[in-house]
Amino acid sequence: MSISNAATPRHRYDALSVGLHWITAVSVIFLFASAHIWEQLERGTPLRKGLQAWHISAGILLAVVMIVRPLWRLYCQRQPHLAVAPATQAPAMRWLAHLMHTALYALLFTQVALGFLFRWAQQEPFQFFGLFSIPTLIHIDPSLRHTLAGWHNTVAWTLIGLAGVHALAALFHHYVMRDNVLRRMLPLRGSVPLRED
Ligand code: HEM
Ligand code: HEM
Repeated sequence: MSISNAATPRHRYDALSVGLHWITAVSVIFLFASAHIWEQLERGTPLRKGLQAWHISAGILLAVVMIVRPLWRLYCQRQPHLAVAPATQAPAMRWLAHLMHTALYALLFTQVALGFLFRWAQQEPFQFFGLFSIPTLIHIDPSLRHTLAGWHNTVAWTLIGLAGVHALAALFHHYVMRDNVLRRMLPLRGSVPLRED
């Protein structure tokens, strides 16, 4: 059973952290997949254009999540009833998990920044599901388009590779080590109770 009160750290993530984590994961997978699907389609087709527009809209959503998530994380760390206890006591494992999460955050920020710079360099409409437009905050020389595309692509592969290792590690914890690491990050509190050791 998970015990949490005002004085002890929680043993699972709060609902907002869980929601933001899974929105991040789904957005990253969609952003990666959409780009690789449209690359197979002929230029100018409605589906290709549609996927590009959805990619940009999902990218804007990810940017908002990447502003809210770190702020919420900082806030949680300062609130005893929201702070999450370390998943493991082993120093090497804690250090590895911390390193992985820091690397994922760094790549996510970099990729969002590159995406915005890339779109501004393209000097094309920059809309969120047709609802509103993102203004051009920085003028980027269109000649930088190809350089930015290359960097955006490299970071995309690095991020997907690292996220894959991260997901495998979570599954390893769940199915092989049989601990609570994955359960802490799952929604549906009632249906996935924490294991008691
Ligand atoms: C984790 C997040 C993201 C991943 C994995 C990702 C992945 C990719 C990939 C693989 C491409 C193809 C690159 C190429 O042409 O060589 C691409 C294109 C692009 N991405 Fe992203 N992206 C992400 C986030 C974003 C964000 C946040 C934005 C900005 C809102 C953005 C805007 C763009 C634009 C404008 C293009 C070019 C579209 C076109 O060809 O017209 N991306 N993205
Ligand atoms: C593109 C996909 C993903 C990204 C970018 C991502 C990113 C992150 C980040 C940055 C954290 C640190 C905690 C936070 O601040 O939210 C985290 C935690 C976590 N993620 Fe993911 N994640 C992804 C996919 C997955 C998948 C598919 C799984 C499960 C199979 C998973 C399981 C977990 C778990 C269990 C934690 C908590 C670990 C702990 O407390 O020690 N993640 N993730």
